[in-house]
Amino acid sequence: MTPRKLTIPAVLVVLAAACSPGTTPTTTTTTSTTITIPTTSTTAAESTSTVPPVTTTAPPTTMAPPPTDDPTAVGGLGAAGIGDEYFPELGNPGYDVSHYTLDLEFDPASGQLVGQATIEAVATDTLTSVNLDFARLDVERVGVDGSPAQFGEVREDLIVVPGAPIAAGEAFLVTVDYSGVPGAVTSTAIPLGVGWLDSGTGQHYVVAEPDAAHTWFPGNDHPLDKATFTFRLTVPDGVTAAANGALIDELDAGDRTTWVWEMDRPMATYLATVVIGDFTIVRDQAASADAGIPIRHVLPGSTTVADWPGLERQGEMVAFLSELFGPYPFDRYGIAIVDGFGAALENQTLSLFDTNLATSAFFEDVLIHEVAHQWYGDSVSPAAWRDIWLNEGFASYAEWLWLEREAGREELEAGIAAERALFASAGLPPPGDPPPWDLFNASVYRVGAMTLHALRLTVGDEAFFETLRRYAADFRDANASTEDFVGLAEEISGIELDDLFDAWLYDPEVPPFPAPG
Ligand code: TRP
Ligand code: ZN
Repeated sequence: MTPRKLTIPAVLVVLAAACSPGTTPTTTTTTSTTITIPTTSTTAAESTSTVPPVTTTAPPTTMAPPPTDDPTAVGGLGAAGIGDEYFPELGNPGYDVSHYTLDLEFDPASGQLVGQATIEAVATDTLTSVNLDFARLDVERVGVDGSPAQFGEVREDLIVVPGAPIAAGEAFLVTVDYSGVPGAVTSTAIPLGVGWLDSGTGQHYVVAEPDAAHTWFPGNDHPLDKATFTFRLTVPDGVTAAANGALIDELDAGDRTTWVWEMDRPMATYLATVVIGDFTIVRDQAASADAGIPIRHVLPGSTTVADWPGLERQGEMVAFLSELFGPYPFDRYGIAIVDGFGAALENQTLSLFDTNLATSAFFEDVLIHEVAHQWYGDSVSPAAWRDIWLNEGFASYAEWLWLEREAGREELEAGIAAERALFASAGLPPPGDPPPWDLFNASVYRVGAMTLHALRLTVGDEAFFETLRRYAADFRDANASTEDFVGLAEEISGIELDDLFDAWLYDPEVPPFPAPG
């Protein structure tokens, strides 16, 4: 294979470097907790103006499918999923979770987790058993509505048998007591360690997209079943524990502290996170004033916003995207900066950034990318994992919109045309049909963003931005499919758009951009 140049998503730049030939994707570790802020970037090629980062490392072409058994071939209870063709065993039909309370005691020294998950749900079918996705940790006890219940484990399902069947429409409560040492797992869909990660520098945090949430708490692990969350995180005094949403209490628990965090809007399981270690919760007053919502970050050591150049623009970014996409969908935002997972991830109201990315030339691109996901991905979540371009294409287009604001429409057109040419000869799969073993390949991001640009050129700016806003508003706190988005774009523009979307999303050839309509 001849090496060639290919634009890769800035968000995955660190990952791509880690995947280049001759290296294995290990985490970056340092031996000191002192944070050094490099003044120059040490990552791949840098972009200074219009064209996004181009790297000369091996392109992130799709990887060979891993040799695994077909999980659907197993049959029986363990194979029952919610019907996602990319993850046949994930999620469960038959009930709808409304709230998770995760009571977690964590000892950073030993890595030991002792947890109790309380799951409030409503049956949508008559249930003789409740199947929860759960893997890796040991289950000690299960209760249903306060009474002990029988349980068994089949593959990655925890099957709970209530004393009597639960009728359709009935609310019920499951409690699961569990313990063990959570850790990294290999996703079937992305070549990164995901799950409950240990940085090796004293930090512990969760990155779970797409399929690792059930390695740290039991639940209905598919974005179709969103729920609100309470986190009660007990850690030794002097250690900070953060999670999605609002910090509502810090309770004294002897020589430990219980940090209580509340996510009061529905959240997909893969966006739930915790961040534990030597961190400071920093409120940025100036950014909050710009954004019109509180901006709070979880920063390593005693660093401040000023130590992370670019971060001071976060509030401006929220304000800019609110103009284009409609009101910011949650009541606060911020990022956590952690060592060593090789990328960034849009956890709801608290995106995670690898330290290396936060000190790279791409930091601003990725800041706008992850905050854009709060609208597209987090508030509006994909109905099926095949539709992941609805997350990544939209967030990548936000990077182009930020460039347009900074440098003008001409720069946008030149940059996106140059990038289209690179992808036209890259031979990646089309964005609407990613391989299940490489769900986050570069086409999903970059050709996904080009698909939106082609729509914009076809329907004009007014109908285009109206479509983006209506999409965020109509599917807020819910799920959408490609069909939902196309339907809305057709309704608003009055133009038949099937051919356009078919060509951009499903044709292996990257189409030419249409002439502005
Ligand atoms: N959604 C991430 C982004 O912003 C990419 C991603 C998916 C990821 N799964 C991940 C990053 C797991 C780190 C770990 O583009
Ligand atoms: Zn993304």
